[in-house]
Amino acid sequence: MNQMVVTPLSDALGAEVTGIDAANLDEATFGRLRDALHDNIVVVVRGQALSPAAQTHFARRFGEIQYHINSEYKMEDQPEVLILSTEIVDGKNVGIPDAGSDWHSDHSYVERPTAYTILQSVIVPKVGGDTEWTNMVKAYETLDDDLKARIQGLVGIHSFNRTRNPRMTRPTRHENPEAYFAERSPPDSFHPMVRTHPATGRKALFISPRFTIGILDLDDAEAQPLLDELFAHIANRDLVYHHNWRPGDLVMWDNRQTLHLACGGVKPPEVRRMHRTTVQGEIPF
Ligand SMILES: [Fe+2]
Repeated sequence: MNQMVVTPLSDALGAEVTGIDAANLDEATFGRLRDALHDNIVVVVRGQALSPAAQTHFARRFGEIQYHINSEYKMEDQPEVLILSTEIVDGKNVGIPDAGSDWHSDHSYVERPTAYTILQSVIVPKVGGDTEWTNMVKAYETLDDDLKARIQGLVGIHSFNRTRNPRMTRPTRHENPEAYFAERSPPDSFHPMVRTHPATGRKALFISPRFTIGILDLDDAEAQPLLDELFAHIANRDLVYHHNWRPGDLVMWDNRQTLHLACGGVKPPEVRRMHRTTVQGEIPF
């Protein structure tokens, strides 16, 4: 074991890493895995099946755990792990059933957004439940010079509050979405629309349809069309890696360089269950 091999998964981003046991990595191999993650943005390791405790231990090697604001879906005896699940037991969801259904970077609505997300598949449906990632470094590099100049130095406003986002439909899962989101949403956070990666020095676009609701010091009349233009650019399929999950996939990604999307489409009685851990990042610069 630990004869690590890195194989690209698409022209856009992503690599499969083979020859490792994520639960038992020596320091040197872990360092190479982290480098592979920085270089490839998304890393897939098949056939892992880490327990919640082992997944937490693995995540801690990347840094400090970041806890989700949705406390009701943290695993009871392992609160570092958030349950994403379509399972319903006694009429109640056991995890977040619809997490990530719009393009986003995890926790960009707080001052120090997530650096790394680590997702372990537990139950995978035959149909549906795929995930996509888009390469925000390439998205930035392929902007035309005029657009690059226009966003230079601009700061995006990020909010968890879906009801304040002009691009989001009114959620149907909550009885009173305005109250639900007002109660849970932290204060707005403000991040450079182009951020620099602390390890690679690469620049990436750092905005998302789900969480970026405006631009600091810019009227919506100017800000919203500019965001629309940028979101149309990042929708380019050439930037995307599409992942079809198998049970035991351990997938990690670098939120500073990518947006991701849960494709949905899971049809009951089939279920999808994933265990998520997130690692705190730096204040974006
Ligand atoms: Fe997410």
